[in-house]
Amino acid sequence: MSATVETQDANIVWHQHAIDKAFRSGLKKQKPAVLWFTGLSGAGKSTVAGALETKLAQLGYHTYLLDGDNVRHGLCKDLSFSDSDRKENIRRIGELAKLMADAGLIVLSAFISPHRSERQMVRELLPEGEFIEVFVNVPLEICEQRDPKGLYKKARAGEIKNFTGIDSLYEAPESPEIDLPAGELDVALLVDLMIESLDQKGIIRL
Ligand code: ADX
Repeated sequence: MSATVETQDANIVWHQHAIDKAFRSGLKKQKPAVLWFTGLSGAGKSTVAGALETKLAQLGYHTYLLDGDNVRHGLCKDLSFSDSDRKENIRRIGELAKLMADAGLIVLSAFISPHRSERQMVRELLPEGEFIEVFVNVPLEICEQRDPKGLYKKARAGEIKNFTGIDSLYEAPESPEIDLPAGELDVALLVDLMIESLDQKGIIRL
């Protein structure tokens, strides 16, 4: 963590502790990273992130998976799906992911995170190369056909307001580090693609 963290109060001074990010990640023998999965509800973000986390754990990496639905049961349970609350949701998760990367972990996050500006905000929280944007690229029609939680049906019936892709905007990434064709390939193949890309980017070593 840098000592130049901004605060609204000039009387709050950053305290640099003896055990730092390099030491913690060194103990774990890994390079910290934030693998930021973004995509529509039903695209498979949690499924792919979960399967990838299992694979990374088998390979001996220390990870943590932050999942949208789960985080909204705790840290973000006070937030709605309005644009401003989604922004606050991503701000909190971004700061949390940064702390976890500071702990030396490979963080996987699975949030719709519909706005480019918020994803950019999280990217800027992290050192160059540590934020890996993963677009779980599935067209709305397929997500709606899958409708694993029955939420699209409810949104179409007007029972859920501000539903992403229906009456709330999703801005697809313009140049994600990884673009996953998750409408076509199965989970095992997507995990293989992810592992290959992470190896190429030097996040993991096979
Ligand atoms: S985000 O837009 O703020 O990033 P987040 O990933 O935390 O969203 O939560 C998305 C999950 O909440 C969806 O997978 C879905 O199960 C549920 N959900 C409930 N209401 C909505 C809504 N209005 N829009 C999108 N997802 C919703």
